[in-house]
Amino acid sequence: MPILSQQSKIQQTNEESVMRRKIVVGNWKMNGSLASNEALLKALVEKIPQKISTDIVICAPYPYLFQTQSYLKNSSIRWGAQNVAKFESGAFTGEVSVSMLKEFGASYVIIGHSERSTAYCESDENIATKLMMVKQADMTPILCVGESLIEREAGIMEKVVSKQLDTIVEMYGEDIFDETIIAYEPVWAIGSDMAASPEQAQTMHQFIREKLSPNAKVGKSLKIIYGGSVNPQNALQLFSMPDVDGGLVGRASLNASDFQSICHSAEI
Ligand code: 13P
Repeated sequence: MPILSQQSKIQQTNEESVMRRKIVVGNWKMNGSLASNEALLKALVEKIPQKISTDIVICAPYPYLFQTQSYLKNSSIRWGAQNVAKFESGAFTGEVSVSMLKEFGASYVIIGHSERSTAYCESDENIATKLMMVKQADMTPILCVGESLIEREAGIMEKVVSKQLDTIVEMYGEDIFDETIIAYEPVWAIGSDMAASPEQAQTMHQFIREKLSPNAKVGKSLKIIYGGSVNPQNALQLFSMPDVDGGLVGRASLNASDFQSICHSAEI
C-alpha cells in the first residue's frame, strides 16, 4: 500500500478508536482468598477514581463473586465471571448458569479463554453457544480468540483466528458481535512474560476489525482488547495502537498498584 494511503488509513483508524471507550479487564483466574481479595478490592476502590473514562472490570472466581460485588458496589469498577454454562439449568454438576450470574448483577462474562478450551477441550461451537446465551441475558461477553506458538510460527495466525470467529458467525450471524468485546489473546503470550509487540497486536486487531466491518453495525464500534503478559511497562504502548481498545490482564491484575497503572495507561 502506498505510504500516503497507509498513513491516512492509520489516521482514520485513530479517529475511529477515539470514539471507542477503552476497557481494562482483570482476570484473576484461580487466585485469591477472602483475605487477599478484601485487601485487593479495597485498594482498587481507593486507587481507581469514581470518574474515569475507561471501563474497568474484575472477573473473579465464582465463590468470590459475592464478595467482589459487595466491595465494588459503590465504585466505578464493574465485575464479571470467567466462564458460564452453555445450558440454562438442570443436571449439570459444577456448572453456573447465565441467569445465576445475571441475578447477582454480573455485567461481563469471559468466554472461550484458551486455558479453558485447552484444558477442558471446549469447542468453538460450545463457545458460540455461550456467547449467544450471555448476550440474551443482557450481559457483555468477552470472547477470547488467539493462536498457539506453532500456529504463529507457521504464519497461519489470521487463519486460526478467522476460523474461531467464523464458527460463531455461521451459527448466529455477524450481528452477534454487536456489543461483544473480543479479546485477542495469543496463547504463547499468556503467562509467559513474552507479550505480543504493539505492532503484532495492532495487525491482528485490525485484521479482526476489517473481517467483521462489512457489518456496519459491528465493525467500527467493536471493542478489541489485547491479553497476554500485559504489565505496567508495556500497557501504554499496546493501548496506543489504533485498534487496541484496552486489555485483558491476568497476573498484573492481582497487584493493585500494577493494575491501577495499567488502567491509567488506558486513560492516556
Ligand atoms: P497474563 O496477563 O498473566 O499473561 O494472563 C493473560 C490472560 O490470560 C488474561 O485472560
